[in-house]
Amino acid sequence: MPTNTLRIAPSILAANLTNLGSEISSIEKGGADLVHIDVMDGRFVPNLSLGIPIVRALKQVATIPLDVHLMILEPERHIAAFVEAGASMISVHLEASPHLHRTLSSIRGLGAKAGVALNPSTPLSALEWVVDQLDFVVVMSVNPGFAGQTFIPGSTNRIRDARRLLDDAGSDAAVEIDGGINIENVGETVAAGAEIIVAASSIFGKHQPSVATRELRKAALINAEVLRS
Ligand code: DX5
Ligand code: ZN
Repeated sequence: MPTNTLRIAPSILAANLTNLGSEISSIEKGGADLVHIDVMDGRFVPNLSLGIPIVRALKQVATIPLDVHLMILEPERHIAAFVEAGASMISVHLEASPHLHRTLSSIRGLGAKAGVALNPSTPLSALEWVVDQLDFVVVMSVNPGFAGQTFIPGSTNRIRDARRLLDDAGSDAAVEIDGGINIENVGETVAAGAEIIVAASSIFGKHQPSVATRELRKAALINAEVLRS
């Protein structure tokens, strides 16, 4: 992977929501590439979280693109509203999208990048049937619903398998890794093929999110290089 394709995507799920504007400035100062926004419906996942008004508000202050992760049933009902609010990238869950091909096409048709997220126990093979509609694949390394969970170790192999499946299909879609990422484990995910790195607790849980963003990128590049050599 060329080093310039690595993108750090801090997730505001662990941010201080009373001060969101300055949290965004901080990660931008630290070189963040995307803002990851976790949308939960209390049905597909047990938690309720952020929604369209937050995306709209972030669009006013962020200078980097908004990466919206929909952990909701029937995501197709809300895609147009999220794009209109300012989402540049939208991922839907394979498990929650019965008409996945159509849903991905409509995300692209609205001008956003289309992604599919997979829970840790979901087989990757369904991706083969939508590979022509994909801009990115989100490999979940925790069961979605909460920030601050522990990285599931087999996830590194899933990144490798997802990358191989995309390469074999001639796709240059990026692999995004989401859940339990920190400076200790980020290198192995990048060495396995992850190009977009989501992190909530290990960035917004730190005293200075700007420094934490920079350190996560540094650890990703250095540790991946060591593992590859
Ligand atoms: C989990 C969310 C993640 C979460 C990551 O359901 O999709 O994006 O914010 O949080 P950390 O990095 O703390 O595991
Ligand atoms: Zn997420």
